[in-house]
Amino acid sequence: MTNHYQLFLFSILLLLGSALSAERCHPDDKKTLFQIKKSFNNAYTFASWTPDTDCCGWYLVSCDETTHRITSLSVNLPNLNGPIPKTVSNLKNLTFLWLSHNNLTGSIPDFIGNLNKLTYINLSVNKLTGKIPPSLSSLPKLGALFLERNQLSGPIPDSFSGFKKNPDFYLKLHKNQLSGPLPKSLGAVNFTVLDLSRNKLTGDASVLFGEKKGLQTVDISRNKFTFDLTKVGFPKSLNSLELSHNMIYGSLPMALGKLPYLQQFNVSYNRLCGEIPTGKGLKRFDEYSFAHNKCLCGSPLPNPCK
Ligand SMILES: *[C@@H]1O[C@H](CO)[C@@H](O)[C@H](O)[C@H]1NC(C)=O
Ligand SMILES: *[C@@H]1O[C@H](CO)[C@@H](O)[C@H](O)[C@H]1NC(C)=O
Ligand SMILES: *[C@@H]1O[C@H](CO)[C@@H](O)[C@H](O)[C@H]1NC(C)=O
Ligand SMILES: *[C@@H]1O[C@H](CO)[C@@H](O)[C@H](O)[C@H]1NC(C)=O
Ligand SMILES: *[C@@H]1O[C@H](CO)[C@@H](O)[C@H](O)[C@H]1NC(C)=O
Repeated sequence: MTNHYQLFLFSILLLLGSALSAERCHPDDKKTLFQIKKSFNNAYTFASWTPDTDCCGWYLVSCDETTHRITSLSVNLPNLNGPIPKTVSNLKNLTFLWLSHNNLTGSIPDFIGNLNKLTYINLSVNKLTGKIPPSLSSLPKLGALFLERNQLSGPIPDSFSGFKKNPDFYLKLHKNQLSGPLPKSLGAVNFTVLDLSRNKLTGDASVLFGEKKGLQTVDISRNKFTFDLTKVGFPKSLNSLELSHNMIYGSLPMALGKLPYLQQFNVSYNRLCGEIPTGKGLKRFDEYSFAHNKCLCGSPLPNPCK
């Protein structure tokens, strides 16, 4: 009987204990999240963020199981207006920052480059302006940076060569107003996915390629890149190569016809010349992938090589 009684008491204590410790969230983080909520004028999306609940259980955030510090903030509804709040810089253990499809304005704050644990940043589809802060490249664990479909201007920072330490890197900067020459140093980075399309970038993009890279998807279309394609090497892993609407010259390397996984390919609207490689790899693409060049010739284009 006493044993049962003890068990009963023990269970009560356990229940009581878990009720008291229900607030796992670190009070500093809770305070920061309330400041963030306030900066966005208490947007409706934050309605579940109330003082009497545990912030580790709140919608749009998550906490680390052991430290109970906020590790993820993701708000992807068209709800947030205004700049990225300074208080985000207090969330030092953030690994995941995902604020896309909002109305974020102003520039990308420098302090994001101090949130050392970030592995993923997605600020795509907003109204962010100004330059890309060079500080982002000091994030040692970053594996994915998505800033596409904003109004960012200026060059791609030279410092981005720092991402050479980050394996398997994904970078998307398409549909902005980026300009200036592509930094040569970017050739040191081993990108897996790279999308720079629909900007006003200039210079030599051949540095991005090479047989030893891990590239799978590359889109640099609709820029003002000028370089000779003749001697550029491509890795076997490549499955999508979009180069259209630039000022790329020279000829198509024979190796392009031998890429085993190529699913998407477009070199139209450039200044290429010479015969289209006859290998199997390019056979699946129609003339519109090659059209509007200076003097490309041979199948699938209607004009034969002389
Ligand atoms: C986003 O901003 C535009 C004007 O800049 C406004 O018309 C629109 O209502 C805003 N969207 C939301 C969801 O607040
Ligand atoms: C971040 O987490 C570490 C443990 O990994 C902890 O010691 C530190 O206090 C946390 N810092 C902040 C500001 O969240
Ligand atoms: C970034 O966010 C957008 C909008 O939510 C989403 O569509 C896209 O898939 C995200 N990018 C990646 C690769 O995670
Ligand atoms: C680039 O990454 C791929 C795998 O993603 C790897 O096989 C390759 O060796 C790397 N190349 C360089 C130059 O680091
Ligand atoms: C290649 O790009 C051109 C120009 O943007 C476009 O007209 C054509 O349809 C594209 N071809 C393919 C196969 O996507």
